[in-house]
Amino acid sequence: MLPKINPTNTQAWFLLKKHYEDEMSRKQMKDLFASDAERFAKFSLHLEDILFDYSKNMLNQKTLQLLLQLAGDCELKDAIHAMFAGIKINETEHRSVLHTALRNFSDTPILVDGKDVMPLVRKVLAHMKSFCDDVHTGKWKGYSGKKIRYIVNIGIGGSDLGPVMVTEALKPYWHEDIEAFFVSNVDATHITETLKKVTPEETLFLVASKTFTTQETMTNAHTARQWFLHTAKDEAHIAKHFVALSTNEKEVTQFGIDKANMFEFWDWVGGRYSLWSAIGLSIALTIGYDNFEQLLKGAYSVDTHFRTAKLEKNIPVLMALIGIWYTNFFGAQSEAILPYDQYMHRFSAYFQQGNMESNGKSVDRSGNPVNYATGPVIWGEPGTNGQHAFYQLIHQGTLLIPCDFIAPAISHNPVGDHHQKLLSNFFAQTEALMNGKSENEVKAELVKTGKNEEEIKKLCPFKIFTGNKPTNSILVKEITPYSLGSLIALYEHKIFVQGVIWNIFSFDQWGVELGKQLAGNILPELLNNDEISSHDSSTNGLINAYKKLRTP
Ligand code: F6P
Repeated sequence: MLPKINPTNTQAWFLLKKHYEDEMSRKQMKDLFASDAERFAKFSLHLEDILFDYSKNMLNQKTLQLLLQLAGDCELKDAIHAMFAGIKINETEHRSVLHTALRNFSDTPILVDGKDVMPLVRKVLAHMKSFCDDVHTGKWKGYSGKKIRYIVNIGIGGSDLGPVMVTEALKPYWHEDIEAFFVSNVDATHITETLKKVTPEETLFLVASKTFTTQETMTNAHTARQWFLHTAKDEAHIAKHFVALSTNEKEVTQFGIDKANMFEFWDWVGGRYSLWSAIGLSIALTIGYDNFEQLLKGAYSVDTHFRTAKLEKNIPVLMALIGIWYTNFFGAQSEAILPYDQYMHRFSAYFQQGNMESNGKSVDRSGNPVNYATGPVIWGEPGTNGQHAFYQLIHQGTLLIPCDFIAPAISHNPVGDHHQKLLSNFFAQTEALMNGKSENEVKAELVKTGKNEEEIKKLCPFKIFTGNKPTNSILVKEITPYSLGSLIALYEHKIFVQGVIWNIFSFDQWGVELGKQLAGNILPELLNNDEISSHDSSTNGLINAYKKLRTP
């Protein structure tokens, strides 16, 4: 089990608060750089082809030492051991948390209820590999004898976001004969528009749902089934065109999918951590099984780093501690993830779920309300688009928004000087956010443009950048399946560390249930034209207005 320690009661928390108030709240990062020529070397780390530079943060050696003390006071090392060992740290669901077992390339057995799960993990991976081979070679044929050309993954949340993000990020690795589509929204537009692009004879639907009961997924899957049967006619053909990625054999067979076409995973894989499991079949089919394995290997390498590196040299631990420093001591409420790589355009959306479903909690592990902030809002867009949208607020707004900048050194599309231009922005932004622009610098600039004294006085306040805005820079050699796997695992473990220290349960998501329940109550009320009076006046008013509006 995880410890149940209120972090605010630790000595480290008390000292961090004092350290913030007495020292760091007034420090300027540019002074920290000016006074230490070795700052970059001291506050950056390498892991294989990844450079993690955390020097542009409002911290010094003492801050780090206290943050590491906080990790110690909250028994982080024991918690890491507990997760990897398969201990049931997801207490509210009485489950182990073992997405790391899905990418365990060691010979170490991993036990759940005394049973090694690794043979099962390897069996499913072997099934995925042979299935990918069959589809790619054309051995697996559609009902009319044609090769499969289109993959449509039907899933939502963790059964969608990971596969979408990874397949987009790895577009240069796509199998030349396969095109992948993802349907998630229960809005019929999503499935309708997708079905316009594929043909029943050449499409393989992957119904991806851990529970196989999720309303959105089952509705879309039934619509796809109907659409398919409209052409294929015979239900016997479903076997060649529908496979299931799920933990729920009963529901899968009830849907009409043969057990042989079910790719299994287990309750110890959280939905938002499931891209490494059978849920990753759309990834393997799209980029090829060998590349999928590279993705797992990249994550495995980070798992090993996370498990074995000293906390002060441990990248996910440092990422987490830096986040806690801003959330709990500077009062930051959001964090931006900004990939300077167009292919990674869904990376922040993916970790929006990863972070916010995991650490968006306000009750601690003893069941008491917390008296401190937990998970921040996560958001972001790829650079440089974000620069022309929301960076204004990051530079000159009133909110403190710590940002992660991520970029590959090598582009998959080395056209002209695009990549140098992209990276010049990547480097310039973190420099600008850190240094800002002083009043004197602004004045000198305005003098050069020939403005008179009065104009300079008027304009000056608007052109000052206070700077001191914190950033991490993550520079990767190239976005490959391996390095992407590593990047994802870094963020996953960051989330875990923060959850441990915030004393919350990161692997359940009860907060999504209420809306689902109420939608279940409301759905039958929408099936007739009777006036509704069973809710509050706003909900009644909205439902009744909808009923009027929908009448032609
Ligand atoms: O949004 C809630 C949630 O339970 C997520 O955690 C999960 O990824 C998603 O729904 C989909 O669930 P399933 O895979 O069971 O369809």
